[in-house]
Order: sequence, then structure tokens, then C-alpha cells
Amino acid sequence: MSIVIVGAGQAGLQIAESLRRGAYEGRLVLIGDESFPPYQRPPLSKKYLADQMADERLYFRPLEQLEKQQIEFRPQTRVTALDREAREVVLASGERLPYEGLALTTGTRVRPLPVPGADHPAVCYLRGLDDARRLRERLPAAARVLVVGGGFIGLEVAATARAAGKQVTVVEALDRLMARAVAPVVSDHFASLHRARGVEFRFGVGLASITAQADGSFTASLADGSSIQADLLVAGIGVLPNQELAVAAGLECRSGIVVDEYARTSDPRIVAAGDCTWHINRRFAAAHRLESVQNAVDQGKIAAASLLGHSVPYQDLPWFWSDQYDVKLQMVGLSQDHDAALVRGEPASGAFSVFYFKTGALVGVDSINRPAEHMLARKLMQTGAVVPPEAAADPAFDLKTCLPPA
Ligand code: APR
Repeated sequence: MSIVIVGAGQAGLQIAESLRRGAYEGRLVLIGDESFPPYQRPPLSKKYLADQMADERLYFRPLEQLEKQQIEFRPQTRVTALDREAREVVLASGERLPYEGLALTTGTRVRPLPVPGADHPAVCYLRGLDDARRLRERLPAAARVLVVGGGFIGLEVAATARAAGKQVTVVEALDRLMARAVAPVVSDHFASLHRARGVEFRFGVGLASITAQADGSFTASLADGSSIQADLLVAGIGVLPNQELAVAAGLECRSGIVVDEYARTSDPRIVAAGDCTWHINRRFAAAHRLESVQNAVDQGKIAAASLLGHSVPYQDLPWFWSDQYDVKLQMVGLSQDHDAALVRGEPASGAFSVFYFKTGALVGVDSINRPAEHMLARKLMQTGAVVPPEAAADPAFDLKTCLPPA
């Protein structure tokens, strides 16, 4: 028996370890194209970029621990094709690895800046440890940092760069920050926070081109005809699912590798988990793709169960977080299609939550510097508690009383 996992990120490692915990005793190969052991990505834009974290602390496990679990870890190894008929994974070296079960945990890659001049050496991205190292090396010499994209990556990098004393400008194509994920009241709060720390924003305008200057700096021209001079550019304009292997192998893909609620692809021997999947979660009516640690871990466990022949449906509650300066944004649920957003607490105090409802039901909660309320929100959503919108908006109302009796 042999199981091969393609992609050695959080989801890939989760599947490998869940398989061993589930008493799988056959051959287990974990393939990654990077040169590091599986590592955590969230610190890359925060502590790691601020030079407050050594590489080793990013790694989930020392290599010996993978060996001990008899996980054959193959770093710096690219898979070039999946031969479903022969049930073999084809490596760039030409080597073929046979499988009875296969897991695709290929994650995402950054969306490249679609403008002329984007190959300028001052242009950086932040997805992998290689990207973070490159950016961390370049940051000290840069006085002026231009961040393109006011999403999670852009804002976390802006906060880190500002804390390092850099002059920071953020260009965001839409009219507010993190628009994909949070309500305007949260966007506004974070815009004020960054402005108070000295970050400048340009909203509603895209980058048009990058022109090199003789001194190694560059001029960024914006679509409205204005321009910005800077020394370093960090682009955080979203990610794309790595699904080419799956597409080429004839597996069903949409904006991600299509899997059912058991993390199974259209081939019963192949599962997929993490950022690369277009998946079903029993909690939600529609399939979707999520970029999160929670999804990598929870869906990874489901995928491992499927490989072991157990059908465990995916129904975990999504949650996310972002750290910017000393402010923690914690999100639970999927609030995108809410019809009411109620603020609990006073944004001006720096700590508040936003409760999102759809046709009267709680669909998500964003908490800003309110970790206890975030945990309570998770419990409320987990238990399917009925929370009246007016109670959510009333800070004097004890929301714990909405929890069903234990
Ligand atoms: N110019 C300026 N802004 C742009 C452009 C552009 N050409 N294209 C997109 N944007 C903006 C989007 O409007 C959005 O606000 O970039 C932002 C991208 O934000 P996200 O979609 O959150 O993506 P990103 O910040 O890159 O993070 C990617 O990595 O660590 C994870 O949690 C993170 O899931 C997220 C992923």
C-alpha cells in the first residue's frame, strides 16, 4: 500500500499525520517543491518579516519527527503529472511513484502584478518562505515602501514596514480595505488605525506601470495619471489555486479542485484539501474556496479519513485572523452575503465586534481586539444558538445566555 501527498504545506502535513494517527501503516510520501520542511505561513508577514523569528520556529516539526512517523518527506521535488491510469505520480526527474491513494494539497500561488515593469527587482511578493526571505533582506535598505493591495497580506506588510520606520503607501483598487472579507465599519477602523500610524492610502485606483530609476528605485504610475516614487514594492493582490496538475489529469476543477464534502475529487482514489480546493461544507449551501489555516487542518483530517475508507462529512466552522500592529482581527463564519451588520461595542475604543446576520440568522462575527468575544462567537455559531440581532447590538446583553443549555 502506498499513499502519496502532493504539496507539503499545512494541509499536506495534516493529512500525513492524520493517516499515521489513523493507524495507516503503508508507505507514505510527502512531496514538496520548496526546500524547507513544512512551515507555518501566517508569521511570514508579521514576526518573521520583522526579524523576530528564526526559520526553525516556522517549521511545524523537526525533520526527525517526520522520519519517526515514517513520513517520507521529499523536498525540492516537483510533480509534473498525475498518471491516473497507471496510478503513478510523475516527478520532474522522470521518477514515477506508485499510489493506491493520492492527496492533492497544492495550495495557491500569488497573482502576479499585471503591469509593464513588474519584473523590476524591487517588486516583491509574499506567499512562501523564499518570498519572505527576499523581502526581509530588501526591507532594511528601503526608505519608501509601496504596497499594492489593501487585503490581508498588504496590510500586514504595511504594518510591519511602518513599525520598522518605513514610509508606507498602500494602493487599493477598491474603495475600502479587506473588502472581500469584512464590513465597511471594519475597513474604516483599519484605515484609521493605519493612518494614525502614518500609512498613506490611495483608494479606487490601480497600478498602471513601473518604471526603473537609475538609482535602483522606481516610479509607479497609477491609472489616474499620478505617480509614486519608492524603493520597494510589495504586491498582495490575491492568490490563484494551483490546480494545473488536476486539470491536466482530467479532474473536475472550477476556481479550485472540485471536492465533495468528504474531500474526494472526481477520482475516488484522489482527495484534495486546503487552499486549492473548491469544496462543499455541510454548513453552507454553495461550494467555495477558502484561504485559511482552519480549512487546511480540518479539511485535511476529512481527506485523511476518506483515504482510510471512513466517510466523515466536512462541517467545521470557518475562522480566520489577521494581526496588524497590536490589533487582532478575528473572524468566524462566512459573512459575505449578510443582510444586516450590527456593531457591538464602540469602535472608537479600539475593541468591538460586528455581528453579521442573514434573514435573521447569525452568519459571522468579526472581533477587533476582543478575543473572548471571538471565542464566544465561535461557540454561538458552533451550537447554532439563536442570537437576536438587537441582543448582539446591546453590549449590556449577556450573549452567553443565548447558548443552549450544556
Ligand atoms: N491594484 C490594487 N489593488 C488590487 C489590485 C490592483 N491591481 N488587484 C487586486 N487588488 C486588491 C483587492 O481589491 C484586494 O483588496 O488587493 C487585495 C487583495 O486582498 P486579498 O484578496 O485578501 O489577498 P492577499 O492580501 O493577497 O492575501 C492572499 O494569503 O495569507 C493569505 O489570508 C491571506 O487568504 C489571503 C491570501
